[in-house]
This record gives sequence, C-alpha cells and structure tokens, in this order.
Amino acid sequence: MRTVDLIEKKRNGGVLSDEEIRFLIGGYTDGSIPDYQMAAWAMAVWFRGMDDHETAVLTDAMMRSGDTVDLSCFGNLSVDKHSTGGVGDKTTLIVAPIVASLGGKMAKMSGRGLGHTGGTVDKLESFAGFRTTLTAEEFRTQVEDIGVAVIGQSGNLTPADKKLYALRDVTATIDSVPLIAASIMSKKLAAGAHSIVLDVKCGSGAFMKTEADGRVLAEKMVAIGKACGRNVAALITNMDIPLGHNVGNALEVLEAVEVLKGKPGDLREICAALAANLLSLCHGWSPEEAHRRVLEALDSGKALATMEAWIAAQGGDPDFSRLPRASVVVPVLADRDGWLIHMDAAQVGVSSSMLGAGRMKKDDPIDYSAGIVLEKKTGNLVRRGDVLAWLHTSDEALVSDAEARFLSALTWGDAAPAPQPLIYDIVR
Ligand code: URA
Repeated sequence: MRTVDLIEKKRNGGVLSDEEIRFLIGGYTDGSIPDYQMAAWAMAVWFRGMDDHETAVLTDAMMRSGDTVDLSCFGNLSVDKHSTGGVGDKTTLIVAPIVASLGGKMAKMSGRGLGHTGGTVDKLESFAGFRTTLTAEEFRTQVEDIGVAVIGQSGNLTPADKKLYALRDVTATIDSVPLIAASIMSKKLAAGAHSIVLDVKCGSGAFMKTEADGRVLAEKMVAIGKACGRNVAALITNMDIPLGHNVGNALEVLEAVEVLKGKPGDLREICAALAANLLSLCHGWSPEEAHRRVLEALDSGKALATMEAWIAAQGGDPDFSRLPRASVVVPVLADRDGWLIHMDAAQVGVSSSMLGAGRMKKDDPIDYSAGIVLEKKTGNLVRRGDVLAWLHTSDEALVSDAEARFLSALTWGDAAPAPQPLIYDIVR
C-alpha cells in the first residue's frame, strides 16, 4: 500500500477501506509515515469528510495504537466526562466530586490547556503539591476509596492521537467533525469507563461555532461509543459566553469551590445536568431522581467534602484560602453606556492567556494566579465607569495588551440581546 495513493483517494472524495485506515494510523504511530504525508491526508479529510463507518474504524485504530485501561473492577460504576473545550470551563472540578459523592467511580485522564482553552490538569496544579502522576495502584486505590482520581495523559494511551492532534493543531485541521470525533472517542474508549457523558460546546469559545455543527459531532460520538458497548450521552451546550465568571487556573478552582458551597448560576446548572446524566447512566436512576440527588449533594456539603478528600489524596493542600493569588489586580472600566450584546469567548480566553494563565507553546510555564474575573457578561446593561472585569496577573507589564484584547472581544448595542439557552439539547 502506498500512502500517496490513500491521500489521493481521499482528496478525490473516495471512501477508505478498513485496511487503508489501519495502515495510515499504524504507519503514522510507528513513524514510517512522515508528518508531511499525514498532514496532507488530514487536510484531505478536512475537505472531503469521512462517513460513519470510516470514522468508527479510525477511532478504533487510534484507540488500539497504545495501552488501554481496564476499569472492569468497578463494574457499571466507572464514569468519565469529556468537554470539547471552552473558556471558563471548570466543570470537571465540580462534576467529579458530585458524582463520586453519590457512588460513581471517576477514573479520569485530563489534558492541559493550549491556546485559548484551559485544561483541568493545569487547574488542579494550582493546589500546591498536587500530583497529576500516580502509579496504577495509587490510581485504582484512590478511585476505590474516594470515588475520584484525575491524572495527566499517561505515556502510551492513544499515541496516534497524541501525534495527530499536535499535527492538526499546526496545520489548520482541528475543526473537522470526523477527526474530532475519532480523537475524543479514541481517548475515552481507551480510558476504559463504562458510562461517558460528553459536553459538546458550541459558540465563539468552542471549536464548533454553531449548534448545528455541535449536534452533528455529538450524534457521531454517541453512535461510536454505543457501537463499542459503552453507555454514552452528549449534552450540547453554550460556549458563546464564557462559563461562570472566572477564567484562569486558581481563579477557576475558587469558583468551582463556590459552586460546591452552593453558589447559583450557569455553572451550577450545567454541572448539575452533566452530573445527573452520568448518575442516570451508571446507576440507572431516572433523570428526575438523579437531578434531585445532585442538588442534595451540593446543598448538603457532601460534594465539597469529597473535593477536599480528593485534593488531599493527590498530595494537594486542600485549604482553598492558600491557593495562589495575583499580586496585580486591575479593573477594566466601561468607557460608555450600553448593552453588552456579544462577548467573543475565545478572545476572553486569549486575554487570560496573555496575563500568564495559558501557554502559547507546549512547555511554557504558567502563572496559576493569572486570569480574569468577569463582572459583566453578554446580556448585561452597562453604565460608563462600571467595572467590566478584573485582570489578575503577577506581571504588570502584561496588563495593557491583555486589556486591549479583552476590550476587542466585546460588542455593544442599544438594546438587550435575545437570551441564549445554556443547554441546547441532550443526545442519548
Ligand atoms: N479535543 C480533543 O481531544 N480532540 C480534538 O480533536 C478536539 C478537541
């Protein structure tokens, strides 16, 4: 088989056979197919797409490219969630302890942030001493005892995705539905959970810009998961507006703790829905029963106590008052009256990154205290002089560019915009 023939076949709109897809993924993983040919193939897929069968075979080939985790010791109780990525998305920090406090077993591998989106591993490392690498035995014991353990991506889990994702990131081929579906589902299937809830985000801060695109991706991923014998549901959710008010690692942890202490709002609502769907899948509870129990776990402090136990078990300091705080905190003031009719969430994420919260390159250091606290969001009426947001950083020199970027994200109008739903739909 010649790689160039397969690139040409896809470029011309052909359907690749199972053997051809496995040849490409195997060859790319072992290094016999070079980056430039894989990049050309990914671009051909970006233009021509893949049918459902091709996507399923691609997912399977990527899942089998490395180790897989066996969580069968937890029976039907092993759960996982995955967000397609967004700004201010700290849902894992809330959903994981809720679900663990209600008997679910969340054995999760998470990623770091890159570009405008944050990553759970970076957020957790805001806790001094938190270990995102555990031995297999530590990982299993912690899940058994506390119900939750979250680690960084292990060495040999889906190496094909690790290589292909990095290649797509620099060749403008990320936003392809079959490539995203195979990338996410290969990791989720390799990570071993029986029940999986996907949070497919749509809007200005997400890879999927429209609800319609989000639905296509959600349906594709649910179909792949079911074909592989897993319980899967996908929530299609709004990422046109940053989630909650805090963006940036320690700031997001603090907001997650506020929600675990009972703070109402969009973040609580979305986390309750994600957690209830996971609990329905793993315990077989009705949606109403699952939702009632989730609210009880939040309001009783049971989920917060699980969060404290989880952080301590992984070596972190569970005293939330000792999380890193920025030495420089600067308000961004409104220079006009008006309605905030749109906020480009990706640009808010970039602004937070520019304050030190994110990295532009994979190995850049980050400032855990840096980020943005939003006082106003899309749909708010603003008066001249109001504080729109607080910029947090350790380096004052970063403020002016970050502020300009933040202000460029805002669109003003003379009337209130139509309210946007938080959850568009659930695909089961
Ligand atoms: N997240 C992933 O893990 N993969 C993608 O391709 C996009 C988002």
